[in-house]
Amino acid sequence: MEQLKAFIFDHPLIQHKVTKLRDETTDTKNFRELVEELGMLMAYEVTRDLPLKEVEITTPMGPTVGKMLGDKKITLVPVLRAGLGMVSGMQSIMPQARVGHIGVYRDPDTLEPVEYYFKMPSDVADSEVFILDPMLATGGSAAAAITLLKRRGVKHIRVVCVIAAEYGVKRLNEEHPDVEVFCATVDEVLNDHGYIVPGLGDAGDRLFGTK
Ligand code: PRP
Ligand code: URA
Repeated sequence: MEQLKAFIFDHPLIQHKVTKLRDETTDTKNFRELVEELGMLMAYEVTRDLPLKEVEITTPMGPTVGKMLGDKKITLVPVLRAGLGMVSGMQSIMPQARVGHIGVYRDPDTLEPVEYYFKMPSDVADSEVFILDPMLATGGSAAAAITLLKRRGVKHIRVVCVIAAEYGVKRLNEEHPDVEVFCATVDEVLNDHGYIVPGLGDAGDRLFGTK
């Protein structure tokens, strides 16, 4: 098999929570809490290489030089709807991050992404962008989101998801080789309706209780 390029979140806490998320007996309240917690835990890994700057501060014992995040702006971009669930967890670790929104849904017949909303901070082109979506299935929605952001001049994009299908990772690797993909697991099967198997079902419906 061709080598897939994706960073796998192998931290035990993340793997534990993904298994609970997959479980069909997990109700909407717990599903929402788990997605939020996963967003928070994933924030550590996806920000590992953010640049730091040295700053002079004074502790109660005297002056010292410490490190803080540099001036690079961070923009979280949830893909509506399900990506919204990951925002609050990420923001609790990165309160300075701004949030842009992209609305994309999959046409149930063609599985092609349909774009319906796009709202970004005006200077998004200069920021590190994290696309958030729990599911990367055919990769169509993520690829469309990346293309829209690149058209706005964004140069640094990472895709952060919970469950990815091999097909979707391969597609992003091919269409957007400059974009890093982060996920907790890569499932092999994509069924005829474009659902990931075993996956977790419909993330938007489980998050918002719409089914
Ligand atoms: C889901 C999911 C992704 C997309 C993944 O959204 O949250 O955005 O499907 O599938 P893909 O990789 O094949 O494009 P959905 O289209 O169900 O929209 P919704 O969250 O508004 O229900
Ligand atoms: N979207 C979902 O919510 N789940 C899948 O398995 C595929 C796309």
